Amino acid sequence: MPKMLHFAWFGAPGAHYWDLPSAATYDWRQGRLYMDIARICESAFLDMVLFADIPAIPTAYGGNNDHYVRHGFEAHLDPAPILAMMGGVTRHLGLGATLSTSLYPPFLLARMVGTLDHLTAGRTAWNVVTSSNAAAAQNYGQDDLPEHDERYNIADEYLELVRRLWDSWAADAVLQDTQRRIFADPAKVKPVHFAGKYFKSRGPLTVPALPQRHPIIVMAGTSRRGQQFAVTNADMVIAHKNSLEDMRSYSTALRRQLAEAGRDPASCKIFFSIKPVMGDTPDMAQEKWACNYEDAQPEAGLSYLSAMMGLDLSPFDLDKPLPPDLPVQGMIGKLLQYTEAKKDMTLREVAKHEAMHETFPIVGTPEQVADIIEHAAQEGGADGFHFRVKVGDIGYLKEVTTKLMPILRRRGLARSGYAGPRLRDNLFAF
Ligand SMILES: Cc1cc2nc3c(=O)[nH]c(=O)nc-3n(C[C@H](O)[C@H](O)[C@H](O)COP(=O)(O)O)c2cc1C
Repeated sequence: MPKMLHFAWFGAPGAHYWDLPSAATYDWRQGRLYMDIARICESAFLDMVLFADIPAIPTAYGGNNDHYVRHGFEAHLDPAPILAMMGGVTRHLGLGATLSTSLYPPFLLARMVGTLDHLTAGRTAWNVVTSSNAAAAQNYGQDDLPEHDERYNIADEYLELVRRLWDSWAADAVLQDTQRRIFADPAKVKPVHFAGKYFKSRGPLTVPALPQRHPIIVMAGTSRRGQQFAVTNADMVIAHKNSLEDMRSYSTALRRQLAEAGRDPASCKIFFSIKPVMGDTPDMAQEKWACNYEDAQPEAGLSYLSAMMGLDLSPFDLDKPLPPDLPVQGMIGKLLQYTEAKKDMTLREVAKHEAMHETFPIVGTPEQVADIIEHAAQEGGADGFHFRVKVGDIGYLKEVTTKLMPILRRRGLARSGYAGPRLRDNLFAF
């Protein structure tokens, strides 16, 4: 029997697809797009939709907003309220938002994510990021972000506080006993009186115990410190890896660290980014990939990378590889991806792949793509994959859900029904 895999749809809820055909049908500023995405993903039994977020029009590339504004980069909505709409038109699909521990006050976040978990009856995920973008910090009144590892120290304490707030109502605190006229048992709702190195909060939360108790914690950092954070906190990781060897060494190392920390290695699901390019014949698929590569604007990839790394890549030579020891304080995992694993790629090639949202290249007919996914999961040690997409590209969503997912289901590689009402039930069903 092949191993059953999990699948997620991942991208920012924004304008990135403005030059694609679906932009004529769907306005990214309106709920209809997101409700249709949710319905389509659920009809194909995907585990979840996960929204990326950078709450800033970056300035990293070229030192100002101009490039990003011109290309519709990071013009996007706040992901959290969208999840509530998507939850209203689905019953099983998991729904996650990226929210930064460097920007949101913990009480605000605990309450908002708790509210979403109730509204969706236990289908919420939180992609924990520490942010890598100075512009985002400045939007929230900070001069800059704390340095890389310190952000994770802060985030560890942040998670501890948020979990305490979620636990501030016992699961059986709410009685709604009309005879005795008692809404909830005061003995079971307690302040947290948290006073840490970075945060203080009194509690209790205004939101009673959540359907999942704690929403699914996702995280994406792959630096050494990022992996430690995942071991302490995550139910699921989403990683960018360009090759099977990189997937394998990452998944092996993470599972080893989980075991060393006393955790069941299966208690943290490992997802890798994919964006398969499909065609009815192998040649058509190759041709499509070549066209995408030709069309890909190096500037688009460079500006994305600059924002994620927190480093202006505009002065670098496009025809040379990225130098290895850049002073990156943002996404160090991304730097390692191209300075250790794929160190021979020129910056132009890197930029074009990033502009195509491509991480691990997969090209072929849907049957071939299914073969590659199965092989990648076995060799790379994946529990699942997330399609890294332009969220509004409904054409691509339909291609994946109607051409690829049925093949994966037929082969026993993807689920053909949900195990339970909560995301946690489905994510840990296999
Ligand atoms: C698949 C994936 C998705 C990510 N999505 C976001 C995002 O939406 N917002 C954000 O600020 N950072 C995002 N990041 C960056 C990470 O959350 C993290 O901040 C970054 O990888 C730095 O951590 P590291 O240095 O430990 O790798 C993403 C990273 C990956 C690999």
